[in-house]
Amino acid sequence: PGQLTLTIVVAGASGDLAKKKTYPALCFLYQHGFLCSNVRIVGYARTDLSDQALRDKLRPFLKNTPEDKREAFLATCSYVSGPYDTPHGWQRLAAVLDKRESATPKNPAGRLFYLALPPSVYPQVCRGLKEHCSSIATSSEPGRSWVRVVVEKPFGKDLQSSEDLAEHLGELYPEEQLYRIDHYLGKEMTQNMFVMRFANTFLSPLWSRTHVANVQITFKEDFGTQGRGGYFDEFGIIRDVIQNHLIQLLAFVGMEKPVSLHPDDIRDQKVQVLRCIKPPSLDNVVLGQYTAADGEDGYLDDPTVPQGSRTPTFASIVLYIDNDRWAGVPFIIKAGKALDERKAEIRIQLHETPHFIFAGESSSSRNELVVRLQPDEAIYMKFIVKKPGLDTEPVISELDLDYHSRYPDVIIPDAYPKLILDAIRGDQQHFVRRDELRAAWAIFTPLLHAVDAGEVPIHPYPYSSRGPEEADALRSRVGWVKNS
Ligand code: BG6
Repeated sequence: PGQLTLTIVVAGASGDLAKKKTYPALCFLYQHGFLCSNVRIVGYARTDLSDQALRDKLRPFLKNTPEDKREAFLATCSYVSGPYDTPHGWQRLAAVLDKRESATPKNPAGRLFYLALPPSVYPQVCRGLKEHCSSIATSSEPGRSWVRVVVEKPFGKDLQSSEDLAEHLGELYPEEQLYRIDHYLGKEMTQNMFVMRFANTFLSPLWSRTHVANVQITFKEDFGTQGRGGYFDEFGIIRDVIQNHLIQLLAFVGMEKPVSLHPDDIRDQKVQVLRCIKPPSLDNVVLGQYTAADGEDGYLDDPTVPQGSRTPTFASIVLYIDNDRWAGVPFIIKAGKALDERKAEIRIQLHETPHFIFAGESSSSRNELVVRLQPDEAIYMKFIVKKPGLDTEPVISELDLDYHSRYPDVIIPDAYPKLILDAIRGDQQHFVRRDELRAAWAIFTPLLHAVDAGEVPIHPYPYSSRGPEEADALRSRVGWVKNS
């Protein structure tokens, strides 16, 4: 069979996301030989730019690539300018695609449309792409040719608006052609959570309410909005990272074993577990907003944030999965900007030993399994051992798998290249299916509406702190125990 004629169209090519994420990810794939040598990357946006001007704009964002590889990559990049809402630009783009594919009529063709754009223009852009750029005419192997569309969050602001958007896109492209990115699904340790859970016998008997006391899923950033206040204020921390990234992590912890590795079997199980989660009650929610401290501006000092905004930059939310495996186990989600450190991790705390025969501080210690996503991927287990040396008392120690020391030669790529490669290969496993998105929005929509209506208190917390103290009180109330 002929080699695939692959064209990647980056819609929104002159924007920030494209420069900072999409093109560097494509360059990474190109540099490491994951894109076929005949790939072409066509940028599309409203700004009038020559091919050369686009390349000059991109070059500073590709600094990590050796010069020869970078220039070879840039040579594959060209540009078409045009509006999003009228046909002529799309027709020009279609002519470029058709011409390219007709030069290799025996080969199947793949068109990957990557929308590096705000979702408000998705409907018109997808309509343009569908009507003008989605029929591959020339290939003599039509069965092996494909068109796929990659879109990125935010997918709406609540259940209804997300459904509306999904409906629009669904009228244009069937689910098999839509790739909804949640970049947390491309992270090494998210993917590993799945393997770890279902490949280790010693874990499976522990994985339920019988042994697990609580699960904490934590996302902390040590910086504020950094000029993104305008965007952030419209969404807030729940929509920005919890409804998507953290709920995905929760789904991997909570799901049942899928029948097979088929992407739909996996996503079926994720949907099932999400559907077992009721919207949180307000007494299981603590929200916060950071204030100026240590010379750092507070959220409201960001000039792009509307005065007096009540948008939360911190949230701690306790969810329960109402099924046999998890009933009564609190899943404590915590996410915040401008906190004391940058960290994302999943921490599974087991019940304490029922009858502890040893003396000493560790009598109330609990085993914990921690999967750290970032920084520095690691899996470690807090467990109790004899204090080394002449002492006999038990102490809590760590069984540690630190990726950088264990696998020093492995490059762990960013999430974006992995996900783009999956889309090129047609693997939807790490993309969010429509019903999964719906289930995730259903959990948070009542809370979001209450927040928007000003019904939930917003606690101030100083920049670089651990967040509002009320969040610590909440997790202790639902059963989390600090290990000595
Ligand atoms: C994005 C959010 O989706 O994820 C950002 O919009 C957040 O606010 C980012 O900073 C976090 O991603 P990562 O990969 O740096 O943890």
